[in-house]
This record gives sequence, C-alpha cells and structure tokens, in this order.
Amino acid sequence: MGNTVVVGAMWGDESKGKLIDYLAHDKDVVVRWGGGSNAGHTVVVDDQEYKLHLIPAGILHPETLCVVADGVVIDPASFVGEIEHLRGRGISCNNLIVSGNAHVVLPYHRLLDELFEKRKGKKAIGTTGRGIGPAYEDKAARIGIRMRDFVDPVLFPERLAEALEWKNELLVKVFGEEPLSAKAILDQLLPHAETLRPFVDDTALRVAYAAKSGKKVLFEGAQATLLDIDLGTYPYVTSSHPSAGGSCIGTGLGPTQIDQIIAVSKSYTTRVGAGAFPTEQINEIGDTIRERGFEYGTTTGRPRRCGWLDGVALRYSSLVNGLTDLYLGHMDVLSGFEEVKIAVAYEMDGNRIVDFPSDQSRLSRCVPEYITLPGWKEDVSEIKEYSQLPANAQRFIEIVEQHIEVPITTVSVGRRRDQTIFRPR
Ligand code: IMP
Repeated sequence: MGNTVVVGAMWGDESKGKLIDYLAHDKDVVVRWGGGSNAGHTVVVDDQEYKLHLIPAGILHPETLCVVADGVVIDPASFVGEIEHLRGRGISCNNLIVSGNAHVVLPYHRLLDELFEKRKGKKAIGTTGRGIGPAYEDKAARIGIRMRDFVDPVLFPERLAEALEWKNELLVKVFGEEPLSAKAILDQLLPHAETLRPFVDDTALRVAYAAKSGKKVLFEGAQATLLDIDLGTYPYVTSSHPSAGGSCIGTGLGPTQIDQIIAVSKSYTTRVGAGAFPTEQINEIGDTIRERGFEYGTTTGRPRRCGWLDGVALRYSSLVNGLTDLYLGHMDVLSGFEEVKIAVAYEMDGNRIVDFPSDQSRLSRCVPEYITLPGWKEDVSEIKEYSQLPANAQRFIEIVEQHIEVPITTVSVGRRRDQTIFRPR
C-alpha cells in the first residue's frame, strides 16, 4: 500500500503506536498531523519501552523522515525533553522535521486550560491539562504564535509581548491571577527555541515532493475519532481533527492520495475524561479490564474508564472515517471472562437506534443492547496464526467484523511487535 492513515477508532488510547511502528518499516515518511503533548504512544521494541507524546513513533526507524505537521500544537519544553530523552537512548532525531506553521503551546495556555476547567466545575471536560484547547483557540482567533516565529530571536519576544497584553488582562481581570512576566517566559523558552530551530521546515512541501517522487507516507493519528471536535462527542472532545479527514489538513497530501485508512480499536472500550460512555462498566468487569489491560493514561496516569466493546460507536467510526481496515487489539485482555459482550444498538427515549448519536445530550440517554457471546479461557498472547485462536475468540472477531462491515485485517494479542496476527482479507 502507498499512503496509509492510522486513526484511533473510539476515545483514544487504542495503542496505535504499535501498528504505526510496524507500518513505518516500509514507509519513507511518517507524519503526525494533530494534537499535542496530550497524546501518548507507548512503543515496545525488543523489550525496550518508548513513551512518545509529540514525536512520531516512526522516529525509531532512522531512515524514515518524521514530520510534525502544521496541525500539531507544540509545547517546546515537552518537545525538547523528548528529543533529549531519545538522543540519550541512542536515537539521533536527525530524521525529524517540524512545520514552521505549527502553533506553540505557551505557559499561559496551560494556565488557562487549568483555570477554564476549574471555572466549569461539574461540567469540566477532564482535559489533560496540557494547554491544548487554549492553544487551538488562539490559532482559530489568529493570535497564536507559530514555530517559525518562535525560533526567530527578534520576532518571538515581539509576538509574546503582544500576546501577553491580552492574556494578562484575562488572567488578572477575569480570573484574579497574577500577570505573567514576559522576561520569565523568555528565560525559560529561548534556550528551547535554539534547540528547535534546526528542525523547523516547510513540511507540507517536503511531504508533497516526497509523495510526488513515489515515496510512501504514513499518517500517524493522535487521539481518536470520538474526540474529533466535529465528529466526536462534543463538548467532551479535544480541539483538533483526529479523524481520517484531518490527515489531509496542512500535511501536504490531498484526499485523493490516500490509499488505505486503518482504525485501531481495542476489543473493549475505554475513555478518559468526562462525557457519556454507554457501555461503561462501573463494576468488577470494568475493574478486571482495567487491571488486565493496564488501563492507565500514558500522559496523565489517570485510571481509564472501561467497558464492553461499543459496536454502535465503532460502526459510526468506520463510516465517518471511510475505513478500509480495522485493527482489533487487546484480545489477550478479554481471555478469562465467562462471557463477552458487544453493543449492537441503543435504546434511546424508548426507541431502538443503530446509529451513534455523537452529541453528549442524546448519547447520555442511550442504553446499550448487547450481543452476549461465550468467552474463552485460553491465554492467547503467544498465538501467531488466526486459525490457532480459540473458536470463541474467532467468533467474537467475526461478529464485530460483520457488524461494522469492514475487514479486521490485524489482531493484536499483546504489547510486543511479535504479538500480532495478520489476517488476509
Ligand atoms: P485535551 O485534549 O487535553 O483538551 O482534552 C480533551 C479531552 O480529550 C479529554 O477528555 C481528554 O481526556 C481527551 N484526550 C485528549 N488526548 C487524549 C489521548 O491521547 N487519549 C485519550 N483521551 C485523550
């Protein structure tokens, strides 16, 4: 396959990093298109664990060009920290470039994220607190600071002074906070600007020329479809476009150049932060899934909310992403349940519905209707062939596939690269 997009199917944390790392083998370019250090990929290679937030997982392949594109919002300290950490582990990062058009997350964005959340009280989104929403707000309001300005030693202090005039008014007059000092921010960030300057490039052109010359591009999704600001469960969403369509915005490739769109889903559902979650299991089942699947956030360490696979949400995700393939992961975590469930419809206001209502108000009134299947006792984590999976596990996979009408071409049974089962169409 030429150009491939990988997206999270549901509310994030689907372990996309493992698939991206695998696919990056035969790609020339890996592009991260959105989000910021709210994301977290854990990639395990030869028992070595790498936790990445902003840098594409493709960085582990030195011959692959890794691109942080226009739509990403960059926290300089976090970005530099990741580069230094990787260098310390023998990964050069010489294959990394970052778009001059990408917006920078500044200290007032983090502070405002926290203050907005506090002000919302019970209606708080449960953000990662990384300043993501306020940074995208400034981008849309056309008052943000972009990477190219950030690494310019003359422009950055000017742009920062302009921004602080507004931000300090907001901090002082609305929130009763102390104003932020430009000097303190410059002292903190100018060394990071120095470090990042060599990485800044016109990434959209680099990607476009690479594709024109026949190179293969992998788009690395962060977050997931149901957190998309338009398609997701608004307002409990992030502020970017993690669904497949987002991969074409500001990256240098147009929709006609995408050959394959793969969504990654777990064989159950998780969510962090607030918002409706119809198949959530606040009971022993949810606790068992959390402990077996080690469902704690890579970025924040928060325990994830856990529940049965929501086939209604997954079918919606398949439709709105135009999926060509589904990768079904964490099948090992479901081993040992007497029975396993898949939601195939909801009851809402006395009616049976099969289409996912993506707004909080309707979704919070939905009660799932499940198919209940016999579980499997066997440990599946070392199985290499689809035909070797227990019959009940195969049945589970095939029912999900029929329900969403998208082929499940890969099944994952553990965190390591070799715990992956490929299933020809
Ligand atoms: P924000 O992106 O920090 O503004 O958070 C908005 C919502 O998206 C919150 O519910 C977060 O928990 C959720 N979120 C953001 N990034 C991720 C992620 O990488 N995985 C799972 N949830 C995420």
